[in-house]
Amino acid sequence: MCGIVGYIGNNLCKSYILKGLERLEYRGYDSAGFACLDTDTYRINHQKAEGQLINLINKLSDQAIDSHLGIGHTRWATHGKISEENAHPQLSCHKKVAVVHNGIIENHLDIRSNLEAKGHTFLSQTDSEVVAHLGEIISNKTTKDDVINIVTSLQGAYACLLMSSDCPETLIAIRKGSPLCIGLGHEQIIVASDPFAFAGQTNQVLFLPDQSFALISKNIVEVYDFSGHTLDVPISQVDITWQDDEKLGYKHIMLKEIYEQKNAIQATLSNCKQLDLTLWDQLGLTAQRVENLRSLALIGCGTSWHAGRIAQFFFEMICKVPTRVVLASEFRYAPFFHEENTLYCGISQSGETADTLECLRLLNTLDVPTMALTNVESSTMVRETGGFLLTKAGQEIAVASTKAFSTQLVALYWLAHRIALQKKYITMESMDRAHDDLLITAEILENSIEHYRIVIEEKLAPYYAQFKRFIFLGRHIGYPFAMEAALKLKEISYIFSQCYPAGELKHGPIALLDNDTPVILFSSLDERVYPKILSNAQEVKARNAHLVAFVFEGQDELQQLADCVFVFPKVHPLLAPLAMTGLMQYWVYSIANVLGCAIDKPRNLAKSVTVE
Ligand code: M6R
Repeated sequence: MCGIVGYIGNNLCKSYILKGLERLEYRGYDSAGFACLDTDTYRINHQKAEGQLINLINKLSDQAIDSHLGIGHTRWATHGKISEENAHPQLSCHKKVAVVHNGIIENHLDIRSNLEAKGHTFLSQTDSEVVAHLGEIISNKTTKDDVINIVTSLQGAYACLLMSSDCPETLIAIRKGSPLCIGLGHEQIIVASDPFAFAGQTNQVLFLPDQSFALISKNIVEVYDFSGHTLDVPISQVDITWQDDEKLGYKHIMLKEIYEQKNAIQATLSNCKQLDLTLWDQLGLTAQRVENLRSLALIGCGTSWHAGRIAQFFFEMICKVPTRVVLASEFRYAPFFHEENTLYCGISQSGETADTLECLRLLNTLDVPTMALTNVESSTMVRETGGFLLTKAGQEIAVASTKAFSTQLVALYWLAHRIALQKKYITMESMDRAHDDLLITAEILENSIEHYRIVIEEKLAPYYAQFKRFIFLGRHIGYPFAMEAALKLKEISYIFSQCYPAGELKHGPIALLDNDTPVILFSSLDERVYPKILSNAQEVKARNAHLVAFVFEGQDELQQLADCVFVFPKVHPLLAPLAMTGLMQYWVYSIANVLGCAIDKPRNLAKSVTVE
């Protein structure tokens, strides 16, 4: 994880780097740091601060350090505790070289002990510091061979930026695994983990290929592979905008994003519809391939995995394609059995999550069809998979995923129908109905928040914020949705939340029920499932536990059993989770708000997880 930014050009590196770091803070906010070259003394000046970027900005505000060459970093700690020594930039002996790094140097202990034996002194516990010490070979005559020397020593996945006081006109960028891109401006170049860092400054972007490095001066970028061959990398035009006024009057970005869902769903749906003629092409498929599709594998992490788990019901019930949903971090190292006519789809808001990306890369080497469902068009997954489908949630900034989740459900529901149409399992009329059902459900998602907003804010959130643990239950399509609700609560409120399939309660977890552990139950509109949910609710009440139920109109018995109910208008049974999404998120958000948690940047987390 971590966000890195580098600048070479005019004497403005501080402002460009801090602006870039602000936009990359979603990648980690344990500490931040900045270094630049003082061209009078030819020394590297640096400053670091624990905690969020604002602490660094405050420290730098009264310091006149700036120059034509600099680097910056925002950290998500992997090796070494959160402290100023472990913040980046990391420096070599005598502070000749400064490095910012995103990734993990797996053999750092070996390198470190070799260097220590040669007299190098290490000041941090990070794996990254070794790169700074290895960088001491950089001189004013630095060539690609010096960089090859450095990368030959390194194992792991990394994106690094190096600057040396001996080589004042060059910024060195190295990429293996972790992302790195170069924004080409007029007489200035900005390098960053993600093009958001320089959105608005330039849209001319050179995406550094995997296992390559660049020697960058003010006007020239030379790119080489790790064997030293020159690479001719095309310049892409990336039109992305950055919304600076993030909260737009809401107390938290997460709250704003909860309220953006209706529009995001409409935008996602119209994007899907617009694609109709080019859809299979964009997905890297053909109509024939879709007709022959025999199975699907959905791959993701966290919330995206939950969306996949819900979508499994869409694909199996609507287009009758057997579907398995795998956690990317587990799939990557499990045995792989090739199945003909299987499509592998990575689901990822960011399109950068290392676990998911590495699975897709592995699948690409096996020559099986891959696609990505992602929210970021400029992401690595879009570039590296056989095809892609975009959710149009707009920039999702809060660490807890909200609108990305609902738009993933929408895109996957629509795709399941589109495949069913291609296979001639449904008519165009059903396809149109699915579209309308999604729009109706989006209305319900938003209206239900408004309906319960005041009672949640004034009464329910303060009451539930007193509890130290919760149990979440769901069945069928409601089970992965309950997992998502439990994840959301633990992520932003730090309250222990455990989720079980409701039917499993009696097989063990029921022993946990007591007066201090509220049970949150999500109902179903499936006629076979609802009676079973009702029995599970009765089991909970028979043990005197406190029951909160998310139910649908007409489910009177369940409503009467529960201590607290949220009632939703009926929707298509497969869209029950989508209907309940907004209110579930708002309820969880409100509890965390009462507790005064850092909702948009919860402790220990980062928005984009770019290490395995
Ligand atoms: O960008 P991705 O969708 O690949 O991210 C996957 C997870 O890291 C992410 O969904 C995470 O679980 C969220 N913070 C949940 O709110």
